[in-house]
Amino acid sequence: MSWELLWALLLACALLYVGLQLVRFARADGDLTLLWAEWQGRRPEWELSDMVVWVTGASSGIGEELVYQLSKLGASLVLSSRTANELERVKNKCLEISNLKEKDILVLPLDLTDRGSHEVATKKVLQHFGQIDILVNNGGRSQRSLFEDTNLDVYKAIMELNFLGTISLTKCVLPHMIERKQGKIVTVSSILGLAAAPLASGYAASKHALHGFFNSLRCELVMHPEISITNICPGPVQSNIVHNAFTEEVSKKLENTGSQEYKMKTSRCVRLMLVAMANDLKEVWIAEQPYLSVCYIWQYAPTWAWWITSKLGRRRIENFKNGLDADSSYFRPLRKKTD
Ligand SMILES: NC(=O)c1ccc[n+]([C@@H]2O[C@H](COP(=O)([O-])OP(=O)(O)OC[C@H]3O[C@@H](n4cnc5c(N)ncnc54)[C@H](OP(=O)(O)O)[C@@H]3O)[C@@H](O)[C@H]2O)c1
Repeated sequence: MSWELLWALLLACALLYVGLQLVRFARADGDLTLLWAEWQGRRPEWELSDMVVWVTGASSGIGEELVYQLSKLGASLVLSSRTANELERVKNKCLEISNLKEKDILVLPLDLTDRGSHEVATKKVLQHFGQIDILVNNGGRSQRSLFEDTNLDVYKAIMELNFLGTISLTKCVLPHMIERKQGKIVTVSSILGLAAAPLASGYAASKHALHGFFNSLRCELVMHPEISITNICPGPVQSNIVHNAFTEEVSKKLENTGSQEYKMKTSRCVRLMLVAMANDLKEVWIAEQPYLSVCYIWQYAPTWAWWITSKLGRRRIENFKNGLDADSSYFRPLRKKTD
């Protein structure tokens, strides 16, 4: 074989490889470290089976699906949110789909904004199970309103719930983990903890605050390397988040919540969360395209990110003002109200 032919073959292989990687990236739904861990890391089935996992926001959406998948792995569960009857429903389903027994699941109603109750709640979990291996800070609410129209009380409420409620519970659980020299603290942030979007200034601020806090806490825990801190950043995922979002006033509900169909399946998001938890990944992005690409652009080319956000943001605001669901039309052509 001549040298020319050999070089041509090598070049063709290299181009094919690059092409394959581009196709893989176009279909990716997680960042590179996460997908690498999914491909060759420790599997959730091996790591999480016998653990005691406390999940906040377990009555709906991502938290609900998370406890279903954890129950199938055999983890013992503490289910928290404000609504006891919804938690009982979730508990019954866990018992139905897994081999867990009544004593393996503790229903513990808890309001994240009622910080005075967090210490007592932690003691109840320790009395019941004797240990907490993983705390999943998942409970939270989003926002759909422009800053200029939004009462400051809404900003206070979002920070009380998403930020202060989360760090308050973490403060109660951490001493126990330090004493046991073991534990994982997992926080469900958002890609809006890294990037920005109009109509969610308070929500993005609360999620950015969580990143600043947990990244700093991880630095403080250098003397306790056995405790891991994982920040999960999902893009749009099917749940009740839009339905439950804050609006211009604390007690006002959103009128048009739109379709959830185009969003990532909750089960896939949760599977990737479990991979991140099993592998103690520090930060993961879980999002389908084009949201995943937006994360990379925000990370590596912030000025371009601003350019793209201003174009898409304008459309999002227009849709919202026209009474359409802003979220579902973010990357879609502007539709008429009558569509
Ligand atoms: N779905 C998405 O597209 C998406 C994207 C990025 C990040 N996230 C994050 O994922 C997490 C879960 O949201 P989700 O999408 O599953 O929404 P969801 O279906 O609305 O669930 C939110 C959960 O939080 C609980 N919660 C709300 N207020 C609470 C309070 N004061 N105290 C305790 N629990 C409270 C709710 O239960 P009760 O009402 O019964 O209290 C519910 O179980 C949130 O932190 C959210 O920011 C979601």
